[in-house]
Amino acid sequence: MPPVVTSTASELRKLCDGIRLRGGRVAFVPTMGALHAGHLALVEAAKKRATLVVVSIFVNPTQFAPGEDFARYPRTLDTDLQRLAGSGDVCVFVPTVGEMYPPGDQTRVRVGALAEPLCGPFRPGHFEGVATVVCKLFTLVGPCEAVFGRKDYQQLLVIRRMATDLLMPVTVVDHPTVREADGLAMSSRNTYLSPDERARALSLVQGLDAAARRFAGGERRARELERAAREPVERAGARIEYVELRDADTLADIPENAGDRAVLAIACRMGTTRLIDNVVLGQDPPPLPTMHSRGIPAAKWP
Ligand code: PAF
Repeated sequence: MPPVVTSTASELRKLCDGIRLRGGRVAFVPTMGALHAGHLALVEAAKKRATLVVVSIFVNPTQFAPGEDFARYPRTLDTDLQRLAGSGDVCVFVPTVGEMYPPGDQTRVRVGALAEPLCGPFRPGHFEGVATVVCKLFTLVGPCEAVFGRKDYQQLLVIRRMATDLLMPVTVVDHPTVREADGLAMSSRNTYLSPDERARALSLVQGLDAAARRFAGGERRARELERAAREPVERAGARIEYVELRDADTLADIPENAGDRAVLAIACRMGTTRLIDNVVLGQDPPPLPTMHSRGIPAAKWP
């Protein structure tokens, strides 16, 4: 069954209101399209929570800084709709830029401290753009559960904070990062990678895995955990933007030792492609299947 597709704000609002009037529940998965198995896992998770799942597909111009990949971001609407077909009770919202940013548009959501570290300095204005578009989308969809992947960990925290601060009737649900069979975190930007870069991109998850295994073995020194994660990425010749251990809820700096839960986040450039990944130590298991992680059986994690 092909999904229902709409491109106007008023139609989407009417559809979602109608579902709720009939006693149904709406779940929401915002995307920029180029859908992969990671997005489809979010849609499956959303279906378990609702009568209707709204999937938005919108490459949001305000979250790209000048010189970033807005123009070349993969736009694959036909394939995306095929991937969502047959999944039943899905509405796909595909607005134009003019629909989301009406003529004269000048309002933005100002984000706070959560947007400052990690990607903040490397992508000026990014989180303001994300929060602004997600705020608009939440307003259209109305009361719902919205599902976000943990791969964009900082985005997840910024959006959850915004929903709380702006008293939005939205519950932000997070979903574990979906990985390729060899461990690479799924991302629409992986399609930019050459075969050689694709192979070297594995160093991110290898670094996170090494650090997660050190943590599982009792290591708590923040700089040691960062060093374990950084080493493989450096060896792979990536241009590192950051490898940082931070408080998993506030993203505050961890000057010395990690507590029971901390996020270890990496961003780097592999060639011209920007890649990010993370692991929440104390919550996520080491991200590589044991056979990929230097052959150490799980029972013998260091
Ligand atoms: O994660 C994304 O794909 C985007 O940042 C989002 C949340 C759809 C906003 O444009």
